[in-house]
Amino acid sequence: MKILHASAEYFPYIKMGGLADMLASLTKEQAKTEKVYVALPLIGSMGKEPNWTGKEYKSILAEDAYEETVAVSLLRKARFREADESGIKLYFFDSELFRSLDSIYGTSDEHYRFAIFSYACYALSQILQVDVFHAHDWHTAMSLALQKNSSHSVPSVFTIHNLAYQGDHPFWMTGFLKEDPFRLVTSPFDHNDKCNYMKAGILSAGQITTVSPGYKEETLREPNGFGLSYALQKRGFDYTGILNGIDDDEWNPKSDKRIFQTYSVTNWKEGKEKNKKELYREIGRPHLPLEVPLIGLIGRLTYQKGFPTFLQAFLERRHLPHRYVVLGSGDAETEKAFFHISDVMPDVFYFYRGYNESLAHKIEAASDFFLMPSLFEPCGLNQMYSHAYGTIPIVSRVGGLRDTVEESNDIKFKTGIVFEPNDAGSLGYALERAKDLFQSEEKRQVVQNIMQLDWTWTKRKKEYDSIYQKAISLLV
Ligand code: ADP
Ligand code: GLC
Repeated sequence: MKILHASAEYFPYIKMGGLADMLASLTKEQAKTEKVYVALPLIGSMGKEPNWTGKEYKSILAEDAYEETVAVSLLRKARFREADESGIKLYFFDSELFRSLDSIYGTSDEHYRFAIFSYACYALSQILQVDVFHAHDWHTAMSLALQKNSSHSVPSVFTIHNLAYQGDHPFWMTGFLKEDPFRLVTSPFDHNDKCNYMKAGILSAGQITTVSPGYKEETLREPNGFGLSYALQKRGFDYTGILNGIDDDEWNPKSDKRIFQTYSVTNWKEGKEKNKKELYREIGRPHLPLEVPLIGLIGRLTYQKGFPTFLQAFLERRHLPHRYVVLGSGDAETEKAFFHISDVMPDVFYFYRGYNESLAHKIEAASDFFLMPSLFEPCGLNQMYSHAYGTIPIVSRVGGLRDTVEESNDIKFKTGIVFEPNDAGSLGYALERAKDLFQSEEKRQVVQNIMQLDWTWTKRKKEYDSIYQKAISLLV
């Protein structure tokens, strides 16, 4: 089967969050048995130089190439450049719209850039004559509306990674979608008087998936449907939750080159202790005690991730012996608060502002616990990375976190600490339970449990296979 994915992110080329990791790891698994292609934008600053094959493809279909709109002329000038990534073919959309960007998101004309990119992905699916077209998140959702309208449409799947970002724009900004080469009737995509790209994907795709069964259930009701639960309910029979997998070549303490010392389930105690010691040295706090819990936090500092709740719980439970290492960037107020705490309590709290892939691995390896106090979490990858590194996750009971972490009373099944409701009181109590667990005999068993969990794609890839079959059968 020939599968074309369309995405704004793909690790290690363009990564802003979990979408990049999810797609790189899923395609790696799919490529073992299928022909896998990925369409991506080519931006100015990439995480890795692509391995170009020299082949190029048009980004507009011949039948659409003659009209004189701005969009058509941009697409005529652009092209897809092919690169090889261990047998997966990457198609980088080389266009003046993206070439100068240092970062993929955040410009005020995203609605335009991503619509043009979506058309190009749709065109590529026809040019490559793929069997399945799989688009991810709102950035590529308009390609599904184009597929649906096309007389030679390709079976399509839309994966929602995060409903909080919908690409909704006032209609006056999206009038170009009525013109060539789009020719779309956009009124069904109306949501709150705006043209909503996410809704377009939901209404147009053959099949819809999201990244965990728990999140799927949550999105069928408000507030977690972010206003689109009615559209998802309408497509209920074609909507499935499939848990993300992880890449155990990238995230594996036995072989990770980014950490200070590799380790496995048989020597995790010494391995993690060495990593903790070296991390403390690297962050300029070599005197910190090794025998008290280290709690790691990594993530985009956005509303979703619940950091203000953590701050409140942290201040309320200052008597706890825990040390904290936090890596992230985003919301300015949260950054300011973290800098302030690390200034006044340097022996308790360390904050690294920014994006740092190596440090993320080192924190996973060094920490005893990993905290994710998310208000909502479609899947979340770090709790699964934590399991692999023998780092006990402390998570709020939402979305993919509740599908992957269980605070069972039966020690054989305990895989972390789970709190609910998501407020400072219950998070604080979870931090207390972490202290007790750290000091107890149970800790060894829990670490053994989690390091033996299998979160790889091997089993879950098949769930996508059956969604692809459904999408194909809809068009036959
Ligand atoms: P989301 O996609 O909502 O950000 P996920 O848990 O799915 O959340 O994935 C986040 C990914 O991004 C993880 O691989 C995490 O380690 C990484 N990440 C987030 N922030 C940073 C950062 N500041 N530095 C390095 N890696 C980060
Ligand atoms: C999104 C979600 C996150 C998920 C990731 C990959 O960014 O916020 O929960 O793990 O996509 O699917």
